[in-house]
Amino acid sequence: MCGIVGYLGPLNPKDVIVSGLKKLEYRGYDSAGVAILHQGSVKRVRAEGKLKNLESKLTAESFDGHLGIGHTRWATHGVPSERNAHPHQVGGISLVHNGIIENYLEIKEALLKRGAKITSDTDSELVAHLVAEQVEVQRDLLKAVQVVLKELRGAFSILVIWDQQPDRLVAFKDGPPLVIGLGQDQVFVVSDVQAALNYTKKFMYLEDREIALVKGGAVQVYSSGGVEIRKPVVELNWNADLVEKKGYSHFMLKEIYEQPQAVSSAIAPHLDPETQAVRLRNVGFAGAPVQELENLDSKEDWQDTLATFNGIARVSIVACGTSFYAGLVAKYLIETLAQIPVEVDIASEFRYRKPVLLKDTLVITVSQSGETADTLAAIRLAKEKGLKTLSICNVRNSSIDREAHGHLYMNSGPEVGVASTKAFVSTLAIFNLVAVAMGEAKGALSKQTATEHVQALLAVPSQMEVVLAYDKYFADAADSLKKFKGFLYMGRGVSYPIALEGALKLKELAYLHAEGYAAGEMKHGPLALIDENMAIVMVVPSDELFEKTVSNLEEAKARGGKIISIGTGDNTRLKGISERYLSMPKAHWSTNPLLEVVPLQLMAFHLASSLGHDVDQPRNLAKSVTVE
Ligand code: F6R
Repeated sequence: MCGIVGYLGPLNPKDVIVSGLKKLEYRGYDSAGVAILHQGSVKRVRAEGKLKNLESKLTAESFDGHLGIGHTRWATHGVPSERNAHPHQVGGISLVHNGIIENYLEIKEALLKRGAKITSDTDSELVAHLVAEQVEVQRDLLKAVQVVLKELRGAFSILVIWDQQPDRLVAFKDGPPLVIGLGQDQVFVVSDVQAALNYTKKFMYLEDREIALVKGGAVQVYSSGGVEIRKPVVELNWNADLVEKKGYSHFMLKEIYEQPQAVSSAIAPHLDPETQAVRLRNVGFAGAPVQELENLDSKEDWQDTLATFNGIARVSIVACGTSFYAGLVAKYLIETLAQIPVEVDIASEFRYRKPVLLKDTLVITVSQSGETADTLAAIRLAKEKGLKTLSICNVRNSSIDREAHGHLYMNSGPEVGVASTKAFVSTLAIFNLVAVAMGEAKGALSKQTATEHVQALLAVPSQMEVVLAYDKYFADAADSLKKFKGFLYMGRGVSYPIALEGALKLKELAYLHAEGYAAGEMKHGPLALIDENMAIVMVVPSDELFEKTVSNLEEAKARGGKIISIGTGDNTRLKGISERYLSMPKAHWSTNPLLEVVPLQLMAFHLASSLGHDVDQPRNLAKSVTVE
């Protein structure tokens, strides 16, 4: 969380940094600031709140230098305020930080003893003091950082400049990402490639406790011990206009509409072009680094994947939030199709519950950003225990992607709205393929059943186009739905995680109380909540659990609950019981969740919009959660 941008080059740093921060605002929007070289010193401008506040302050400012750093903040230590906004300046040092310095109390005490004047409540300012002290001794920014890095514990990525060495910028990290974009005689240092995609497609990924010295148009990277490291340069095929709104009012709405394409892009690489059989492509279990995956022999790689799947006796899926709910759907898919037992954990729980990890377990992590701190820690724990790991990420070359043994990609394109949408459906599509592949590897699945699943998956994009019509429906219905005091989302089987996801979307966007429940659990407690002020959102596809779920629906109705049901086709029975009935195209049980989630996303979007909330940037949240 927090977005950072550094620039050294011939362009106007103010423009480059602000345009980069705009792309990173999803990482935090409590305050923003820049520090840019001007007339031999570094001028700082900061503002509380969203980036637009900083932009208005900057309209009157000009800078003649060609070096600068910028920051958009998600508050950890210290309230959101201008005083706590980055960059922090101490002497001639200006510094921006993303993350948490765990030993900040110790550092603060020592600094106070040495007479430092601390002006903010942040842990970040303390690092600026340490660097300012060291440049006085070392007379060199890189050497000063090498000393300071030894003192820091926690999760951080940091950019620092010194007005006495205005030709350089130093970047270092341990935890949250830092990516270096390489242009013609110019260098960008950013938290996420999106911030520099307008200028370059060539990137270098800094690893933990490495230090980059950017000087002129060149970059040198050193280990914390001072040894120079040759870093590979990765050329990305993401296109800058993928991160624009393209006429939609919000990124979230655009991303909801991109879901049919996202599903196609997720599955296309993994189907044999002639037979349409599942052939997971270039997963890399044999150990190739992520940059080399495209160069693998696909046939050999597929054999490695089958052998890995065949060799496992259980699966453990670890993720957070929406990605965790995708993991819950996967449990039903993998257990049914491959007969392999699956456990699903919230990453922050997994790490600390001392999980019993048996050797024949495959640990699968799911993360859109590939940077979620708890999920990253989980994959590291699994590796420490000697287990094989497989990551499903959207962002290629992200930290989780780079740590995993095997790699699958959501292929959704950049997801900018803070609430995850298209990455969720892409993940469900990928899990369908993984379940089929595991089923085949284990001999648990006939060719015919596998084909049936692939056909069902191929039908999803066009079925989704139909479901997107609920955009208009909820644009009209939102006003009347606002009156409810709470929302209970329910489903059974593979639709139960969709109830959880629907409730999460409503909570995080509309700030309304919503809970997801397994419909069969209602009578064990939540039924007491139901009266005429409670909306019941029931996901009831025509599958083998239909009758049971309808009984649960009747129980809710009998207590006065107002029912919004989501079912298959023109279901007169559901229509009769419900205030509102949303019809889904007839789909396979395994692909129903991909369709059911769409109206729930649209409902949350429209309720939040009609309540006047900022849908793309919900309060207190940030997209890439790089702190524990
Ligand atoms: C909810 C949402 C979050 C993320 C969670 C994990 O809409 O976006 O719950 O799903 O923070 O993020 P990733 O998938 O990047 O690890």
